[in-house]
Amino acid sequence: MPEKLLQQEIKFELNGKPYSVVTHPLTRLLDLLREDLGFTGTKEGCGEGECGACTIHFNGRPALACLIPAAQADGAKITTIEGIGDEDELTDVQEAFQRYGGAQCGICTPGMIMSATYYLENPDSAETMQEALAGNQCRCTGYKRIFDAMEKVLKND
Ligand code: FES
Ligand code: FES
Repeated sequence: MPEKLLQQEIKFELNGKPYSVVTHPLTRLLDLLREDLGFTGTKEGCGEGECGACTIHFNGRPALACLIPAAQADGAKITTIEGIGDEDELTDVQEAFQRYGGAQCGICTPGMIMSATYYLENPDSAETMQEALAGNQCRCTGYKRIFDAMEKVLKND
């Protein structure tokens, strides 16, 4: 079947704005965001659902963009790291990660921030902050500084 016939129009809301793209329905949402739309804040680590680097909010909940086919995004509400604060106006979580050394190489950081933000806004979603971040791997920080940063936000320090 000619590839052209496999293209599909996908409409979704991204960081509060409407988008419409034509792509193969099995394009990974991660590639759609990074390569087609230029939202490179969402990172790729493993590419197979193990590391959490590609965590976004999908219909209000953390999800792994490397595992979501574009077709599934039709009608969805998506938020990436670009949608929750910027260089001039960091969120409390971003500021705490910066201040307490929760980010080193930075590859895991956007995904961590997306998971941490969801947990801080939905404290009943996990028993502990460690559980909330269990799907996000970090090779640099040893996690302590990440948990320290989250603790500061939780305590409003
Ligand atoms: S890149 Fe998606 S979970 Fe690792
Ligand atoms: S800061 Fe490098 S992987 Fe987490």
